Amino acid sequence: MNNPEKVRVLFCCLGNICRSPTAHGVLQHLVDRRGLADRVLVDSCGTGHWHVGEAPDARAAAEAARRGYDLGDLRARQVCPADFDAFDYILAMDRANLADLEAMRPATFAGHLGLLLEFSEGVAVDEVPDPYHGGDDGFSHVLDLVERASEGLLAALAREGRLDDAHSQQ
Ligand code: 4NP
Repeated sequence: MNNPEKVRVLFCCLGNICRSPTAHGVLQHLVDRRGLADRVLVDSCGTGHWHVGEAPDARAAAEAARRGYDLGDLRARQVCPADFDAFDYILAMDRANLADLEAMRPATFAGHLGLLLEFSEGVAVDEVPDPYHGGDDGFSHVLDLVERASEGLLAALAREGRLDDAHSQQ
């Protein structure tokens, strides 16, 4: 099936400075590397307002850079009602984020609102733990979980025919 509509993916955590910008950078990297930039739009946000306008946490940016992902252009923003019109997939990092999003969800939202790790195969956990108050290994764990789920998300979109395009390569 050839689907001309871009798939719009929004990642959401609490602060939009650690987990969701990491997911944003990883999925954007995969999308760009696979020639899918005209098929998939990626963005991220937080449920909280505290870090709006800030660059990603230096620890998240460093771990991402170590693995080849550039988070340098990302700036935190807070989720808003219009996001439910603008995105097809809204993926939360943990259940608290998901509960906050469910409370905002308009009855008209026809997209997919769920946890990012639903798209990970063979992973025993369903939440990406908040690394903000912990050590550097927490950021490495976030990257491990996010890389796997991002591959799973692209595989799921491919199975649904959402990536079909003359330019797409798996
Ligand atoms: P994030 O991490 O939700 O992955 O961006 C956090 C960032 C900041 C805070 C908590 C979590 N905070 O309490 O300021």
